[in-house]
Amino acid sequence: MKHIKNTLESDGYVILEGFLTEKEIEELKQETNKLIQEMPEQSQRTVFNTITAQQNRDKYFLESSDKIRYFYETGALDPEGKLLVDPNIALNKIGHALHELNPVFRKLSFSEKVKEIAFQLGFEDPAIPQSMYIFKNPGIGGEVIPHQDAWYLYTEPKHVVGFWFALEDATIENGCLWFSKGSHKGGVHRRCIRNPDKSSDELLIYTAPAPTYQKSHFTAAPVPKGTLILIHGQVVHFSEVNKSEKPRPAYTFHVIEQKDNKYSEENWLQLPEGRQFLSLYKTN
Ligand code: FE2
Repeated sequence: MKHIKNTLESDGYVILEGFLTEKEIEELKQETNKLIQEMPEQSQRTVFNTITAQQNRDKYFLESSDKIRYFYETGALDPEGKLLVDPNIALNKIGHALHELNPVFRKLSFSEKVKEIAFQLGFEDPAIPQSMYIFKNPGIGGEVIPHQDAWYLYTEPKHVVGFWFALEDATIENGCLWFSKGSHKGGVHRRCIRNPDKSSDELLIYTAPAPTYQKSHFTAAPVPKGTLILIHGQVVHFSEVNKSEKPRPAYTFHVIEQKDNKYSEENWLQLPEGRQFLSLYKTN
């Protein structure tokens, strides 16, 4: 525990096996099963996956900071929002306020052991801006392209740190994380921001094309379930498609520093007027 700050600063990520108990893992998974039962009606799903309704789809995403919303895998819905696959494998993720609105996810996110990690990392007044449950279901769970989390949640001068909890064993076959060790030392390569051009249909844009990263620079991080991986906001990482027969679920949230630190107004994730991100140390 003493060295996690050093490891994060030298490697760009830290692997902490056995962070979650079996009971905590089960609670999170059972709660997610309940959330799947509460999946939105077909009419509400439509807005989301219709290619012609880019703006509506972006809007659904952009307004999810204080809600629990459902994001589907490509190919899981027809243009009318009808499920083309089993509802249990249709979702890509649920986000982005599980840590705030769902009691089970809230309990873990603001647990003493999470606070202790933030403290060890040197956070003085940390907050959690967002959380997600990632499904990565077999056969449909898509790849996540190489990226830095700072593309999406840009803060300065102290960068964001991702907390990623494996809820099943993550293996090379089922799409574990891969890291480019030390890549966090090379700055932020591009950003994903709210489009300043309000006349455009695209509400979100990248500030530069996707950089090319050499696959040979990446190391796989297969981990047993219950592992917490800490992810430096500037370390380049990705995950492949799930080629196995089983899901590779993970719960993840990000931690930002609020003391003498700026959260970019260009970030996609903004709370409604007058709201603040929940302080990690002051919330139970
Ligand atoms: Fe990431």
